[in-house]
Amino acid sequence: MTTPYDRVAYPTTIFAQTNPERLAVLARLAGLDPVPPEESRILEIGGGNCVNLIAMAAMWPGCDAHGFDLSANAIARGQEIAAASGLGNVTLAVEDICEAHHRYPAGSFDYVIAHGVYAWVPEHVRAATMRLAAHVLSDRGVAFISYNAMPGGHVRMIMREMLLDAIGEIDDPEQRIAAVRDFLEDYALPRDGDEPLARTLRLQAANMLLRPDAVLFHDELGPCFYPQRLLDVAAEAHANGLVFLTDAGRNRQMDGFLPEGADLPEDPEAAVLMAASRDDYASLRYFRQSLFVKQEPDRVVDAMRIADTWMSTRVRRQADGTFLHGEDVISIADDALADALARVAAMYPHRVPLNTVTDDPTLLRVILQLYTEWYVNLHPGPAPFPAKPGDKPCSGALVRGMLTLGETTLCTLDHGVLKVEQPELRALLMAADGTRTLAEIAALATGIPPEDTLAALTASCGKALMQG
Ligand SMILES: C[S@@+](CC[C@H](N)C(=O)[O-])C[C@H]1O[C@@H](n2cnc3c(N)ncnc32)[C@H](O)[C@@H]1O
Repeated sequence: MTTPYDRVAYPTTIFAQTNPERLAVLARLAGLDPVPPEESRILEIGGGNCVNLIAMAAMWPGCDAHGFDLSANAIARGQEIAAASGLGNVTLAVEDICEAHHRYPAGSFDYVIAHGVYAWVPEHVRAATMRLAAHVLSDRGVAFISYNAMPGGHVRMIMREMLLDAIGEIDDPEQRIAAVRDFLEDYALPRDGDEPLARTLRLQAANMLLRPDAVLFHDELGPCFYPQRLLDVAAEAHANGLVFLTDAGRNRQMDGFLPEGADLPEDPEAAVLMAASRDDYASLRYFRQSLFVKQEPDRVVDAMRIADTWMSTRVRRQADGTFLHGEDVISIADDALADALARVAAMYPHRVPLNTVTDDPTLLRVILQLYTEWYVNLHPGPAPFPAKPGDKPCSGALVRGMLTLGETTLCTLDHGVLKVEQPELRALLMAADGTRTLAEIAALATGIPPEDTLAALTASCGKALMQG
C-alpha cells in the first residue's frame, strides 16, 4: 500500500521531548519507579523513518528499541540508517497500528512513543493507538502521545479548510505545495480593517510559509487532521487503563502535579486535568505531549525527588550576572546557585550529579522550576558519552553510519542533531572507529593536522559525537 508518507517523505528528526530520560525524570518526580532508559525496552509507534528511536538505540547499547510505521519507504530508510550504523539493538517493521498488538506482546515496553500520530489518523486508528499503547506498556512504563490540541486546533482547522479549497483537485505533491505557498503568501498580507482573529490567522499563514515543503504537505493538508481536547484524550486513556502523568512540553511539565503543600482533592487526576484544560483554553494551546502511566502518580510536587538526578544546562552567564538561554534572560537570586549553574554550563553537554550542586530544598525548588522552563536538563543518570577520547577513540556508531550514507546533519549521543560542515572533521570522525590509537588516527590523511587530532577529538566529545 502506498501512503501519503511514501509519496512525500516526512522530515522526521530528533524530538528531545520524547526522550525516555525526560519521561523517567517526570515519573520519578511523581514517586514512580521507571526503568532506567539504558536498560529499557522502547517502542516508537508511527515513527516514520524512526531516526528519533535509532538515536536512542545509539545512546544506550543496552536498550532494546523497536519502531514501526505504515510507510514502507520510511521504514526502509530507517533500516538503512540502522544497518549502516551496525546497531544491533534496533528493530524496525512495516506495521499497521491496528494490527501491531499481534506483533508486540502485552507489557513488553517500558517507554512507548507516538509523536505526531494521534491527531493525524482516522478515528479507528486513533482508538487503536491508545489501545496499543496501553497493551504494550509495562507496569513501570511511561507512554508519550503528542497531538494537535484544542482550542488552538480550531485556528488550524480554519487554515486547513481555506487551503484545501485553494488546492482544489490538484493531486501532484509539487503542484499542491506550490498552490499552498501561493495562497499563503497572499493571505499573510495584512488588510486594512483586519479584525484581531484575521490578524492571528495571517500570522499563522506567515508562520506556515517558514515550514519545509514536506511538513506543509502533511501537517494541515493530509487526509486526516483531528485536533484533540486534552480531556477527551485522557478519557480515552482511562478507558484503556492508563492514568495521566503530566505533559512533556516546555512549561507544561507540572501539569500533572499539585503545588507543594496542597490539600489532596477527592480525584487528584481529574483536578489536574481540569486545571490543565482550562489553561489550554486560556492560552489557545494547539499542541500537547501527554504522558500516561499504569500506576497512580503522587500528585503533590516534592522537589526533593529530583535530588538524585543529574543536571546539564546550556545557559550562558553574562557580565551583569544574569543568564541567557536563547533569547531569554534568567536571573538567579541565590549567588551560590548562580555560580553552580555557571560551572555546570561550562561542562555542557556533560552532566553533574545534582547532589554535588545542592541538597537545599529551596534551591531544588528553583532548579525544578528551571527544569520546567527547559533552562536546565535533568537526567536519571550520567551522560552516555565520554568527556575525553579513550585509548582507541571511537565516534558514535550512528554518527559514522550517517556519514557513510553521505549525511552531514548527524544525530548526537545526547539526542540532538548537529550539522558538521567541515569535511576534515567528518573524515576524522570516520577514522575514529575504535580500532585505531590516537597516533594511528593522526597519521591518516584526514585533513586535520596531526598535532590537532587530540584537540579535535576532545572537542567532538564536547559535542556528544564520541562514544569512547
Ligand atoms: C505526521 S507523521 C509523524 C512521523 C514521526 N512520528 C514524526 O513525528 O516525524 C505520521 C506518521 O504516522 C504513520 N501512520 C499513519 N497511519 C498509520 C498506521 N495505521 N499504522 C502505522 N503508522 C501509521 C505515517 O506513515 C507517518 O509516518
